[in-house]
Amino acid sequence: QDDIFKKIVSHCKEYGFVFPSSEIYDGLGAVYDYGQYGSELKNNIKRYWWEAMTLLNPNVVGIDSAIFMHPKIWKASGHVDAFNDPLIDNKDSKKRYRADVLIEDYLAKIEEKMDKEVQKAKKRFGDSFDEAMFRSTNPRVLKNKEKYEQVHARFAKALNDNNLEELRQIIIDCEIVCPISGTRNWTEVRQFNLMFATEMGSTSEGSMKVYLRPETAQGIFVNFLNVQKTGRMKVPFGIAQIGKAFRNEIVARQFIFRMREFEQMEMQFFVRPGEELSWFEKWKKTRISWHLALGFGKEKYRFHDHEKLAHYANAATDIEYDMPFGFKEVEGIHSRTDFDLKRHEEFSGKKMQYFDPELNKNYTPYVIETSIGLDRMFLSILSAAYTEEQTSNGETRVVLKFPAPLAPVKLAVMPLVKKDGLPEKAEEIIKDLRFDFSCQYDEKDSIGKRYRRQDAIGTPYCVTVDHQTLEDGTVTLRDRDTMEQKRIKISEIHDIVDAKVNM
Ligand code: GAP
Repeated sequence: QDDIFKKIVSHCKEYGFVFPSSEIYDGLGAVYDYGQYGSELKNNIKRYWWEAMTLLNPNVVGIDSAIFMHPKIWKASGHVDAFNDPLIDNKDSKKRYRADVLIEDYLAKIEEKMDKEVQKAKKRFGDSFDEAMFRSTNPRVLKNKEKYEQVHARFAKALNDNNLEELRQIIIDCEIVCPISGTRNWTEVRQFNLMFATEMGSTSEGSMKVYLRPETAQGIFVNFLNVQKTGRMKVPFGIAQIGKAFRNEIVARQFIFRMREFEQMEMQFFVRPGEELSWFEKWKKTRISWHLALGFGKEKYRFHDHEKLAHYANAATDIEYDMPFGFKEVEGIHSRTDFDLKRHEEFSGKKMQYFDPELNKNYTPYVIETSIGLDRMFLSILSAAYTEEQTSNGETRVVLKFPAPLAPVKLAVMPLVKKDGLPEKAEEIIKDLRFDFSCQYDEKDSIGKRYRRQDAIGTPYCVTVDHQTLEDGTVTLRDRDTMEQKRIKISEIHDIVDAKVNM
């Protein structure tokens, strides 16, 4: 699994999907640039989300609010006082960790130990192996299971009580059972605010400390009445937004999974008080169907309901995807009550209420939020799409099996040889199609190599122009997944590709 993840990361770089930021200056921690294919894929994911939100729901509209916002907003939202990560340093290795993430890693290690026992036994006993029975009776598995449950319970309680000393103690205890850092010399756990700050205005005019937004949601809350009034929106309705967010993550790792500059696709859905939990259930269903429609398989996703709720929430769940490094949060769905609107009312002194013409009364709407990390979605799609296959001649074919509507390039058109008018014919075909889908012309190297290059960037179809094309107007159409080739008329290309790539 680790191996696959490394391969995906290097594939991303080699084929123009993701580059480390400022690479010629040795990079900048947890900041990445999207290359020519990466940005196309990202745009396609955005479009898939945006259209699902705004076209399929007549009562959801989109906005694009600024990254800079009045600093009081982050006081009101709680980010100035509570948007903290618990940090711990190892005094010997001088390495810094996020205490909660480190404990999650210990838990994963204990789980791994249990799984290893099971795998060993599976190998030994073969078909007759009863895994459930083994897990419930094997002493080594049971010992680890008990350990896991103990640590898990202590961890949940420490988080709930915000008990930093207990987090440290758990780390010290876990290090003995399954070492990660190798030493036991830890500092205290301290809270560290994740917001980036900068100055707005020159000092002569008096400057103001402003933050780079750590979530896009607040831009929606503060525009709630602007949109409601100008769009004549009636509760229940939603406001969607895609945009950059910034967090000074200390534990930056796992490639684009945890970045300092990333993108969110968020939607706040405003409902009548008391109706929030049924809307929460509805949005859970809608959002998981959106993920499942990509066709990667149900077993790749799971809900993780939160036991510990943020002070403003009365229900929360994550949609997790089975990444190469385990199930990880991709999207959060939260029932945020009327907390945000009420706080903005308090801090701004402006009314944030809605007049409901059917009920003939004013109230502060409750909010269901769906919040998805675009970069995490990108990583989940790449992980699902990345496939290595053995071909009949013993080579390894690397192919990105993207759902066709998300593929960065939809069609490659290639002349079999670089002469006899074949390049001109290929260009002519592209000219006809390039306003309908993203097409690529390629004439360099053998046709086999060119097919491999298109496989590696996930192009669903390749069309090859040969001498017969000039005689009878037919081409060879090759399918990325099946590698099947068939002869079709040039005039048929458009409809075949269109049927596959349009959502
Ligand atoms: N408005 C709610 C909110 O921001 P969150 O759970 O903190 O909630 C929502 O973030 C989503 O944003 C996460 O599910 C994740 O996909 C993405 N996200 C959060 N921090 C991230 C980071 N450092 N790098 C990449 N994506 C991140």
